[in-house]
Amino acid sequence: MSQNNSRWTEADVPRLDGKVALVTGANGGLGVQTTRVLAGRGATVFMACRSVDKGEAIAARLRADQPGAQVHVLALDLADLASVERCADELTQRVDALDLLINNAGIMAIPRRETADGFEMQLGTNHIGHFALTARLLPSLGADARIVTVSSQAHRMGRMAWTDLMGQRSYEKWRSYGQSKLANLLFHFELDRRLRASGATQISVAAHPGYAATNLQHVGPQISGNQSEAAVMRLANRFIAQSAAHGALPTLRAATDVSAQGGDYFGPDGFWEVRGWPVRVGHANRAGDAADAARLWRESERWTGMTMFSQTAAATEATP
Ligand SMILES: NC(=O)c1ccc[n+]([C@@H]2O[C@H](COP(=O)([O-])OP(=O)(O)OC[C@H]3O[C@@H](n4cnc5c(N)ncnc54)[C@H](OP(=O)(O)O)[C@@H]3O)[C@@H](O)[C@H]2O)c1
Repeated sequence: MSQNNSRWTEADVPRLDGKVALVTGANGGLGVQTTRVLAGRGATVFMACRSVDKGEAIAARLRADQPGAQVHVLALDLADLASVERCADELTQRVDALDLLINNAGIMAIPRRETADGFEMQLGTNHIGHFALTARLLPSLGADARIVTVSSQAHRMGRMAWTDLMGQRSYEKWRSYGQSKLANLLFHFELDRRLRASGATQISVAAHPGYAATNLQHVGPQISGNQSEAAVMRLANRFIAQSAAHGALPTLRAATDVSAQGGDYFGPDGFWEVRGWPVRVGHANRAGDAADAARLWRESERWTGMTMFSQTAAATEATP
């Protein structure tokens, strides 16, 4: 443990020799930092990246900085379910078991776009792609495996627009981001319930980074060409945000703290959880709504054609 018990730091990440991790979005901000620390502790890390070239460049840098780091790049476009299938197939051919599935990749507040399968891009990337990836990798999880879902304080402004989840009738980019991050937490808690109900030994843990300076804030303004929004994001990243390394700490705690339990949610301990050291944090009541979570799960199964825990799910849903 670190010297100050109230602060959980990178130094608290245990040795991970022999462990296998997959990090989505591993070529960007928090994903790079998560990969750096996990590989630095001896884990073999598969970096699942939309751009293999960008991933290989980061992997080369990590190997140079940390000689012996076991990092490998896999192609993964979460906005294309065929790509998710290929990524999962490749991983399962290359490893016996997966110990850490870190569902980290994301996009924020972009103009309305659709995935290859016709889903609204933010819900499609941040939630649906990760649902499909988790479903495909579930049978390959090791006995002590963890599935870590990266959400956001933005889940608090999220509402599930059940009659227009894909924003076809009405779209607002922040509302859609909030919905996708609420979906991340609904998924995390429902996964926790289903793992428990099925007697599984693996656990579902979630995290949010607070506000960390990464590329996330620049993608939306770049796509829309909104210069004033880009300037605001640059200023906020400079004066309010914490570093990407600090922002990755809640994810790392969720992934490796031996005291973490299924259903835990970690975030920074500072004011409004914007910055700080990773601790267990609360969430909006909506994120804990089991009926909404079950409904989202059913929709996600329909969207992806993938089922998880079909037998125990029926039992859970039949419970009054
Ligand atoms: N930074 C923050 O303040 C903050 C706050 C709350 C929550 N979060 C969450 O933290 C997570 C990581 O974000 P970040 O801040 O590290 O952002 P980032 O620097 O923009 O990194 C995002 C990563 O996701 C990847 N990605 C985007 N679309 C993808 C797709 N279709 N398929 C596969 N990968 C895709 C990006 O790949 P490309 O390089 O190819 O675009 C990049 O590697 C996200 O889930 C985000 O919602 C961040």
